[in-house]
Amino acid sequence: MKVLVIGGAGYIGSHVSRMFLDRGYSVTVYDNLYSGCRENIFPEAKFVKADILDYSTLEITMKGGFDALIHLAALKAAGESMSIPEKYALNNISGTINILNAASITGVKIIVFSSSAAVYGEPEYIPLDEDHPTNPENFYGFTKLEIERLLEWYDRLKGIKYAALRYFNAAGYDPEGRIRGLEKNPQNLIPVIMEVATGKREKLQIFGDDYPTEDGTGVRDYIHVTDLADAHIKALEYIHSHKESLILNLGSETGLSVLEVLETARKVSGKPIPAEVTKRRPGDPARLVASAVKAKGVLGWNPRYSDPGSLLSTTWKIYGSSG
Ligand code: WQD
Repeated sequence: MKVLVIGGAGYIGSHVSRMFLDRGYSVTVYDNLYSGCRENIFPEAKFVKADILDYSTLEITMKGGFDALIHLAALKAAGESMSIPEKYALNNISGTINILNAASITGVKIIVFSSSAAVYGEPEYIPLDEDHPTNPENFYGFTKLEIERLLEWYDRLKGIKYAALRYFNAAGYDPEGRIRGLEKNPQNLIPVIMEVATGKREKLQIFGDDYPTEDGTGVRDYIHVTDLADAHIKALEYIHSHKESLILNLGSETGLSVLEVLETARKVSGKPIPAEVTKRRPGDPARLVASAVKAKGVLGWNPRYSDPGSLLSTTWKIYGSSG
């Protein structure tokens, strides 16, 4: 089968592309390299350097005949989305409309979409299942929810089947070390910790230690990118055989606090990783943990690399040798 991985040069996209190649798929990467890395594109994959706002290139590319699109191209900084919403509306929503329209015209019938736990907003209950109300707290989460709604309409009106995969906190690196691209100016906890460990940043700022959690710091559900990539393939194969759309949470179902992540990083790296407690970051919920019962039941998906040790050791293996 031929897949077009849109955003395939990114942190998650490169892991998804790698796994599709490992499973014998023909992969074409479509990426503008705004945040993705050229070094993350494998020689076995074809590459189109273009933007999802470039409709004509999208349509010409899709005329190549693809069995499915994997759509991971998005701006994802929740904080930035609140100060420059127009950038997120244009790239995430208008960009996706281009993808859907090009797919409609060229006859692509399956889309696997990178959605996010950010669609839920402040949790009303934990663990979060797919029936939890969707009230995004930031504009980034709003764009992801809007795209899910667009997918539903294009399914109803154009017969494009989709899987909206609601990632919790993606982390880790390919255990075989085949992907080495580092995120540019990361804001997420684990890459920030790694930049402190390698001396690129002076210290970690812990955004509040007065949350109603065991140690007072924020608790999140970290899911390894290799486990995420596996879920993409299983979702595509499910849609291909069942011809029905899916909305699934992808998480480890385990909560880790900021301090637990920090301590594990210190252990695997052997580095001191200095940290200071600062005030809470606006919009941060105390705890976000997934229920992945549906993905496990429907896809037979089982995360294998999402324990704290693997998450941090696979990451340190890349950052620690990045020179
Ligand atoms: C994790 C925890 C912070 C940085 C975001 C997006 C979400 C998704 C994943 C794409 C929180 C704390 C963090 C730091 C800290 N993105 N923290 N110091 O906010 O859970 O989710 O990334 O889909 O949409 O919102 O991830 O890694 O930023 O924060 O103390 O320098 O680490 O308060 O408790 P988050 P994060």
